[in-house]
Amino acid sequence: MSLNSLDETLAGELDNLQAAGRAKKPERIITGYIPPKGGCGPRYLLQGQNSEFLRLNSNSYLSLSNHPALIEAADEASRKFGVGPGAVRFIDGTFIPHTGLEERIARFTGKPAAKIFNSAYTANCGLALAIGTGTTRWIGDQLNHNSIIRAMRIAGVPSANKAIYKHNDMDDLQRCLDQVGDGIERVVVIFDGIFSMRGDFAPIDRIKEISEKYSPRFKDGVITIVDDSHGIGAYGTTGRGTSEFCGAAPDIIVGTFGKAFGVNGGFVAASKTLIEMVRQKADTYIYTNPLSVADCAAAAKAIDICDGLAGSALLKGLQERTAQFRAGLARLGLESIPGPHPIVPLLVRDTAATHTLVDKLYANGVLVVGLTFPVVPQGEETIRFQINAAHTESDIDSVLDLLSK
Ligand SMILES: Cc1ncc(COP(=O)(O)O)c(C=O)c1O
Repeated sequence: MSLNSLDETLAGELDNLQAAGRAKKPERIITGYIPPKGGCGPRYLLQGQNSEFLRLNSNSYLSLSNHPALIEAADEASRKFGVGPGAVRFIDGTFIPHTGLEERIARFTGKPAAKIFNSAYTANCGLALAIGTGTTRWIGDQLNHNSIIRAMRIAGVPSANKAIYKHNDMDDLQRCLDQVGDGIERVVVIFDGIFSMRGDFAPIDRIKEISEKYSPRFKDGVITIVDDSHGIGAYGTTGRGTSEFCGAAPDIIVGTFGKAFGVNGGFVAASKTLIEMVRQKADTYIYTNPLSVADCAAAAKAIDICDGLAGSALLKGLQERTAQFRAGLARLGLESIPGPHPIVPLLVRDTAATHTLVDKLYANGVLVVGLTFPVVPQGEETIRFQINAAHTESDIDSVLDLLSK
């Protein structure tokens, strides 16, 4: 057997993707990291390019990925325990940095317990497998992340047990709750904390209030889940995320260590019983090796930093640079979506103009991402800028200067 026939079919499908404008471009390859110097934040080298690049497309909001304390923690854990766990968690693949990180993130989120996953993506999939039943109705925001949508499919949720409310539309959420029929014992309202294409946030206080109103109708109540991957570490006065910003805590928090915390991995934080059910039933937790101890130790260190004075300073810097960039866009008369999150969308509203602007920024040493149809609806073509704590005032000014031209 060879792959010739299959390859031929796949090549045709790839051509179709290309023709439909839906194919992803080849990936750029980073070959070097240049630490901050002379009033400039970090710069990156790319394969095949001679110049240095400023990244405004990284989720590492606190810029902790290159922090010496994280690197040292990862290094120390690897030296102590090795670079790989050798097995899945329940076959003696659980090391003290795994449980240490679970305790640390539970404390940080104010929940009794947590389980870590290889990513927030697999955390969402595992959670859906753990708590979904034939009598569970899932209700989600229209703009939820792909991992939540995929989680529903992996958990085999039939379309009759799913409903979608218009983005952040609380009347529509109530409509979805009103429509839940007899026989449903458990309702799950699931939503992103920060919507990654827009930088706006879910009104968690309102979602909680509405969910609590409907809760007595169902045997297991109405459960709220936030996936706060872009909020945790980067949002709220102490970086506790969208719940802190809104002053209301959902029942379950999903998040990532791969964005503000600058490392890798995901988590679910909730009650002790729910987390034990995740351990028993979440296949994406059970049947796969866990994060390396290096990742765990670095992530725990990132939370420590975020929780202390150094973290407050980073968060303050992030907020200042974000405000500087947002004010600059407004001064230039450019359209954005208001809000304090470091995801700052520039609404271009035209596919060709979005590509041109992204290319111009790249030619001038700035990495950003252009979002065009089908990633965003037609007419909402956007350039997504992401600010981080290592950007300097002059970095932001230089990007604004480019945009003004
Ligand atoms: C809401 C949301 N959930 C999950 C993820 C995936 O995070 P991870 O890289 O940890 O899988 C993302 C990242 O893009 C996200 O925006």
